[in-house]
Amino acid sequence: MERSLALLLPLIGTLAIIHIVQAQSQQGFISLDCGLPANERSPYIDSNTEIQYTSDATFIQSGKTGKVQANMEDRFLKPYSTLRYFPDGIRNCYNLNVEKGRNHLIRAWFMYGNYDGHDNSPRFDLYLGPNPWATIDLHKLENGTREEIIHIPTSNKLQICLVKTGETTPMISALEIRPMGNDSYITESGSLKLFFRIYLTESKNYIRFPNDVYDRQWIAFFWREWTQISTTSDVGTSNHYELPKAALASAAIPTNASAPLAIEWTPPNPNTQYYLYRHFAEIQDLQKNETREFNMLWNGDVMSSDPVIPDKLDISTFYSSSPRTCDEGDCNFQLKRTNRSTLPPLLNALEVFTVIKFPQSETNETDVAAIINIEATYGLSRINWQGDPCVPQQFRWDALNCSNTDASTPPRITSLNLSSSGLTGNIAAAIQNLTQLEKLNLSGNDLNGTIPQSLQRKGGLQLFRHGNPRLFPSESPTVSTGKSFPVVIVASVASAAILIVVLVLVLVLRKKKPSTVQVVHPPPSRPTMNVPYANSPEPSIEMKKRRFTYAEVMKMTNNFERVVGEGGFGVVCHGTVNGSEQVAVKLLSQSSTQGYKEFKAEVDLLLRVHHTNLVSLVGYCDEGDHLALIYEFVPNGDLRQHLSGKGGKPIVNWATRLRISAEAALGLEYLHIGCTPPIVHRDVKTTNILLDEQFKAKLADFGLSRSFPVGGETHVSTVVAGTPGYLDPEYYQTSRLGEKSDVYSFGIVLLEMITNQPVIDRNRRKSHITQWVGSELNGGDITKIMDPKLNGDYDSRSAWRALELAMSCADPTSARRPTMSHVVIELKECLVSENSRRNMSRGMDSLSSPEVSMVFDSGMIPRAR
Ligand SMILES: *[C@@H]1O[C@H](CO)[C@@H](O)[C@H](O)[C@H]1NC(C)=O
Ligand SMILES: *[C@@H]1O[C@H](CO)[C@@H](O)[C@H](O)[C@H]1NC(C)=O
Ligand SMILES: *[C@@H]1O[C@H](CO)[C@@H](O)[C@H](O)[C@H]1NC(C)=O
Ligand SMILES: *[C@@H]1O[C@H](CO)[C@@H](O)[C@H](O)[C@H]1NC(C)=O
Ligand SMILES: *[C@@H]1O[C@H](CO)[C@@H](O)[C@H](O)[C@H]1NC(C)=O
Ligand SMILES: *[C@@H]1O[C@H](CO)[C@@H](O)[C@H](O)[C@H]1NC(C)=O
Ligand SMILES: *[C@@H]1O[C@H](CO)[C@@H](O)[C@H](O)[C@H]1NC(C)=O
Ligand SMILES: *[C@@H]1O[C@H](CO)[C@@H](O)[C@H](O)[C@H]1NC(C)=O
Ligand SMILES: *[C@@H]1O[C@H](CO)[C@@H](O)[C@H](O)[C@H]1NC(C)=O
Ligand SMILES: *[C@@H]1O[C@H](CO)[C@@H](O)[C@H](O)[C@H]1NC(C)=O
Ligand SMILES: *[C@@H]1O[C@H](CO)[C@@H](O)[C@H](O)[C@H]1NC(C)=O
Repeated sequence: MERSLALLLPLIGTLAIIHIVQAQSQQGFISLDCGLPANERSPYIDSNTEIQYTSDATFIQSGKTGKVQANMEDRFLKPYSTLRYFPDGIRNCYNLNVEKGRNHLIRAWFMYGNYDGHDNSPRFDLYLGPNPWATIDLHKLENGTREEIIHIPTSNKLQICLVKTGETTPMISALEIRPMGNDSYITESGSLKLFFRIYLTESKNYIRFPNDVYDRQWIAFFWREWTQISTTSDVGTSNHYELPKAALASAAIPTNASAPLAIEWTPPNPNTQYYLYRHFAEIQDLQKNETREFNMLWNGDVMSSDPVIPDKLDISTFYSSSPRTCDEGDCNFQLKRTNRSTLPPLLNALEVFTVIKFPQSETNETDVAAIINIEATYGLSRINWQGDPCVPQQFRWDALNCSNTDASTPPRITSLNLSSSGLTGNIAAAIQNLTQLEKLNLSGNDLNGTIPQSLQRKGGLQLFRHGNPRLFPSESPTVSTGKSFPVVIVASVASAAILIVVLVLVLVLRKKKPSTVQVVHPPPSRPTMNVPYANSPEPSIEMKKRRFTYAEVMKMTNNFERVVGEGGFGVVCHGTVNGSEQVAVKLLSQSSTQGYKEFKAEVDLLLRVHHTNLVSLVGYCDEGDHLALIYEFVPNGDLRQHLSGKGGKPIVNWATRLRISAEAALGLEYLHIGCTPPIVHRDVKTTNILLDEQFKAKLADFGLSRSFPVGGETHVSTVVAGTPGYLDPEYYQTSRLGEKSDVYSFGIVLLEMITNQPVIDRNRRKSHITQWVGSELNGGDITKIMDPKLNGDYDSRSAWRALELAMSCADPTSARRPTMSHVVIELKECLVSENSRRNMSRGMDSLSSPEVSMVFDSGMIPRAR
């Protein structure tokens, strides 16, 4: 059957439009007459459709305007006679405001009309935001073409882009956007690309607005094997599809009453998926002894279990929520009467769509708004700053880089190079809204004022501002550096930082005779070093010296005189800088030069991490074979010692334990969510929770444990990450330690704090602490679980709560473990509960603050010995 679909395209201006005068709202309509010359009136009302068209000038920044060749003007009536073409740039985009989450009919018209006199029909691509929509090829389409989809935008901004793909210049004649109802044309997958939309009549009229409230265009279609039936009665149209009454007032029936009514077409490609919307209404007066009943068939198969019996003078719309494909060859839609039907089938109107998918997410809306604001603030005009900033990648805006994960994740802007762009005035506030920015180059402009705090403080942002002599950091406007420096440097450890450096503890340190080391005189300008204490303001990073010579290390430790500990991977010596500031110096020896760079990168990273509950790394030494890490000195030992009562350390009470664990949790939370990229501690355990003179908890050794094998060179291949008993059981399956691995280890710490039991005890029936607690929990007696050394002096609600929290942290499945932020909240609440009990039991302290007290409760200071 020869059923050319070209027949289904409306021929502009040659067909009469059915026109029943009727006031219809055009609310939400966007009707752009592209290229409408400035000297013509805009907006204007099109006399055929009553649609109000406006010029496209304010919706696009680029392009030139044109008009179809004069002798074709009667073929291409307004709004299709003028056009906009795009000789410059690869991608040019319209920016339109729509309603996110709502179905919209989106239609674009392309009428070449030899506007340029070259008689060379263009071919180019049409994009919807970052996704390809159609290839427009006007060759052999002398009357032009249009593309139409029904689509639900994912943001309130809609971008329609024309992309140059060859020699010819993209052009567009008109753009029409119509918001639709919520309850129609809902599909399981993808958007709907119009294939054809027909109503069955022998007339030649086509229907659109105002008869169709959504301005769908219904093409009159009829076949010679059919007979038309029609009605002058009013046909009910009140289902969600809001069909024009005129489209239902006529219908086709097969002339041979026993033959099926069939519509066939050849698919453009065999995998094409279709959605069919079939609209029926009984428009004949049926006698008592007459019935019309028929089945719908798709390539010979019945489409629905029940046959169709059209309602009298009322619409029924049939569709399926999943798409259909055609078998080999043609697509064949048939209506076949059933045995009991006395009348042939009828069809009033039919819409066929193909499925079009738009899988690529648009860039995060907040980022898009920010970059557009930045563009406007500085009056930047870059030819390719059009359309989505990040995607598709080949059209990414100049000067930007973005995170590109999978298509379903909105990309984020990660770097911005605005160097030498003639920027003046202050740093645009909108830059702070680019929350994922890692690199910002503002060099070589004439910016003034101060750098916002958030840009200086933001973890992971590299800011380059060289060559802006009037721009100052907000803290110290007097600091004027001649060279660019990163305000915060964070080495990218994303993939990196498997720190392959193999560092071995210097077990034989004391065998090394100091005399073999060349002692040099202190350099003329001694470095000043500030040990950052929690309540002292952080010195600005660029002012501090971080790298020390070996001679300086020897001096500060008085030739390694006082060994204060031996960790898993190093001997720790006490040291003093500037005669008074105390430091802990961890000595390492480098057995391999491989990975040195990564070591350096990681140290650089850790040097920038500051939190009151983290032991600060204040410097390092790398001179030849001599490696040392210099930490803030934390004088009061570790939590393990205090729990065990060993080494003369007292046993801490329940409230103090809760506070210490809450503080350690805060430190860990900071590593996980306050740092970019997040830092995984990898070795959370009670011996890594240190206590300062005020008994404040400080987490030590974060981020480094993966770098240090235990046991020296012979174990190079088995890099140990973590400590047995504390190690995430999922690690054995995935070999990856993530934030949730730290949560597991923290759960073990909590269990130790609650029970004061060893983490692993081979003599215990249940050797691992989680198994032991798990089996004791069955008894339901918390006093059997709690540390007996607490003598029952605790609030059992806070104890239960802490215990439940600990067990959920130590869940074998990482997905079921809480985040550290959640842990912090829970522990603070446990502490509130415990503190209120203590206050009540003391019958005093009406002045005590009801809020969480993270400050030290003087009643818990360990006695001076
Ligand atoms: C274009 O429209 C004219 C009538 O205006 C018609 O004669 C011609 O066949 C059409 N061309 C195509 C390719 O459809
Ligand atoms: C569409 O749905 C939203 C909520 O889902 C509702 O607020 C809005 O009024 C609906 N619009 C129409 C036209 O039904
Ligand atoms: C009418 O259709 C039936 C069923 O398709 C067919 O058998 C019959 O030959 C047709 N009659 C005419 C006159 O074409
Ligand atoms: C229905 O009844 C009318 C008379 O009322 C008769 O003329 C007609 O042939 C009948 N139609 C059928 C299909 O039986
Ligand atoms: C309709 O008639 C055909 C033969 O004419 C028969 O095969 C079929 O089973 C009948 N269907 C029903 C539903 O009676
Ligand atoms: C976009 O980024 C903002 C700010 O970071 C965030 O709050 C929002 O959830 C993001 N939106 C999407 C869709 O990811
Ligand atoms: C953009 O970032 C990606 C990583 O996200 C990187 O591989 C690529 O080299 C960067 N491109 C530019 C031009 O900086
Ligand atoms: C940053 O932009 C400047 C000016 O546009 C340009 O000269 C420079 O090459 C760009 N740098 C990078 C790394 O893209
Ligand atoms: C920042 O831009 C300046 C000027 O274009 C350039 O010299 C410098 O290398 C850039 N810095 C980075 C890190 O891209
Ligand atoms: C910054 O520069 C702009 C113009 O370049 C000027 O109007 C403004 O007064 C300057 N602000 C300061 C604080 O110097
Ligand atoms: C930053 O983002 C917030 C929230 O999205 C918005 O209210 C604010 O206007 C934005 N600021 C700028 C300068 O764009």
